[in-house]
Amino acid sequence: MYIPRLHPNTIEEVKQRADIVDVISEYVVLRKRGKDFVGLCPFHDEKTPSFTVSPTKQMYYCFGCQASGNAIKFLMDLGKRSFAEVTLDLARRYQVPVQTLEPEQRQELQRQISLREQLFEVLASTAQFYQHALRQSAGQKALQYLKSDRLLKEETIQQFGLGYAPAGWETLYRYLVDSKHYPVQLVEKAGLIKPRKEGNGYYDVFRDRLMIPIRDIQGRVIAFGGRTLTDEQPKYLNSPETELFSKGKTLFALDQAKSGISQFDQAVVVEGYFDAIALHAAGINNAVASLGTALSLEQVKLVLRYTESKQLVLNFDADKAGNNAANRAIGEIAELAYMGEVQLKILNIPDGKDADEYLHSHSPEDYRELLINAPLWLNWQIDQILKDRDLKQATDFQQVTQGIVKLLKNIVNKDTQNYYISYCAEILSLGDSRLIPLRVENLLTQISPASSYSQPVPLKRKAEINQASQASPSSSERGLLERAEGLLLRIYLHCPEQRQTILNALEERDLQFSLSHHRLLWQKIFELPIQQVDLISNLQDSYLESSEDLSLISHLFYLNEKSKKDIMRTPQVVQAAITCIELVMCEKRYRHFKELWEATDEQAEADLYEYYGKAFLAEKLRYIKLNAQRNFSIEEVLKYA
Ligand code: UTP
Ligand code: MN
Repeated sequence: MYIPRLHPNTIEEVKQRADIVDVISEYVVLRKRGKDFVGLCPFHDEKTPSFTVSPTKQMYYCFGCQASGNAIKFLMDLGKRSFAEVTLDLARRYQVPVQTLEPEQRQELQRQISLREQLFEVLASTAQFYQHALRQSAGQKALQYLKSDRLLKEETIQQFGLGYAPAGWETLYRYLVDSKHYPVQLVEKAGLIKPRKEGNGYYDVFRDRLMIPIRDIQGRVIAFGGRTLTDEQPKYLNSPETELFSKGKTLFALDQAKSGISQFDQAVVVEGYFDAIALHAAGINNAVASLGTALSLEQVKLVLRYTESKQLVLNFDADKAGNNAANRAIGEIAELAYMGEVQLKILNIPDGKDADEYLHSHSPEDYRELLINAPLWLNWQIDQILKDRDLKQATDFQQVTQGIVKLLKNIVNKDTQNYYISYCAEILSLGDSRLIPLRVENLLTQISPASSYSQPVPLKRKAEINQASQASPSSSERGLLERAEGLLLRIYLHCPEQRQTILNALEERDLQFSLSHHRLLWQKIFELPIQQVDLISNLQDSYLESSEDLSLISHLFYLNEKSKKDIMRTPQVVQAAITCIELVMCEKRYRHFKELWEATDEQAEADLYEYYGKAFLAEKLRYIKLNAQRNFSIEEVLKYA
């Protein structure tokens, strides 16, 4: 196969986009440990994990065999593939546009690379210049402002490298061009000076402003935000887009926040530079600021890299144009949220304060409390829909219902959707619990006319219905059960120390294996005279006469690499599998009772009607509760079953 030489920009972009945890997770089961992830090393044989992956460093290292490198190196070594091959693969996978390297382009490239390096240098010099100016007499009022108005400590001012851009028109220009001899074009490309409209010469972009350096993930200055100290407009002036700086791809303070984000397993996104700075100063160091624009997908992915549970709290001003700010800010993330790929929470600080203002009169603990209590984005949206509405009024009721239907329609995950359907049904029932089943049905029909819950059930005689719901589970249920039950059995067979736990869990929740081949295996396990010794080989013997039965479950007798790793996480896996089985049973009973309820005449058999209504609601509520308990990793866990 011919593999073209890739353009360094392509390689660089691949490195940026291909997150190491993402890449390695495909081959190694990784568990979070502190800031890092650990797993069994794929490069040597081991029973306890010594293979460490660091999302902050984007590196892996094995304490057992010393294998180490970045995502590209991992794939090269694992697949014995070349650098170009792996990079090209990753470029395709992460949708990086592929540019190749023709010989004649190389010189031009060299030039571009050194341009970036020179830009970094100019910006670093400038940051130093501004910092120095803050300590001069001209910078007094800026320093005073930071200390008295913003209540910042010296330590924080240093930490963020805050500075002051002097008032003259050419102060920075003279420093960089005349004293430091940087080429004018370079300084212009850095976004620091602009050519004069009339005559020739250049003038400084930032004048008499408080300067906030904006850094990339590695902490290199790539741009500035400058706040006026007077009433001048704009309040904040930002560097233009440059070779190094792109507003939509940058988050302020991410370089400082990345370890905090891993540590708290959560990222807080605020609107203003000073909100982020105030939060860091208060020890809440998992905060970043968007740069006054709607959050882009790229920015969100950037922060989510550092969290395991993909928790993002948006703390945007609630004042301004109502909550439009937050809604606008959500921008492209809405889709991720509907897909369940980010656990998005919305924090509106009481009294329309921003984080900075809030911390002037409250403690960091108070703010943490707000973070904990912040509603999930969907709940927040529902609150917005309900705001200033009176559900007792017909028009309000109708509009709210419509709003809710529109919102819930977009939720991709059926379980989440069902949860919110019940949640909203309860709200719409205005405290009359008898109305809940009706409201649930109503929402269901409007949201997904063809969903499994709301399929119109032809009226059948009760006996038939009874039979129908006893019948074998649907194919998707079957798949889930096959995996969950299989996993549980496999653990039972291979992990003697887990057997009691499994027995207890099944008994406690009154669960049985639903699939007949699993039931048969379970039965055989207990028919064996001696339980603990050589369970698997004894079972194999007992299947000798029926090879057909054996073929359905024999895979459970063996462990491949993947299932071995799974089984190492047994306590969680057992719980996840049990919850899964219970969910399926619960849904089955829900459907069963609902069908009965629908087939019952409300007037003629009022008691029965009420009884079935209550029964299906009870199952529904149980289902919701289980669903809430079940942790996000259940699908993850079962994937390997
Ligand atoms: P806000 O107007 O909400 O102000 O801007 P703030 O952060 O509370 O400002 P202070 O507390 O008065 O200093 C939020 C963010 O929007 C961007 C900046 O990134 C700012 O931090 N912004 C705002 C601009 O880029 N330009 C502006 O003129 C205003
Ligand atoms: Mn503010």
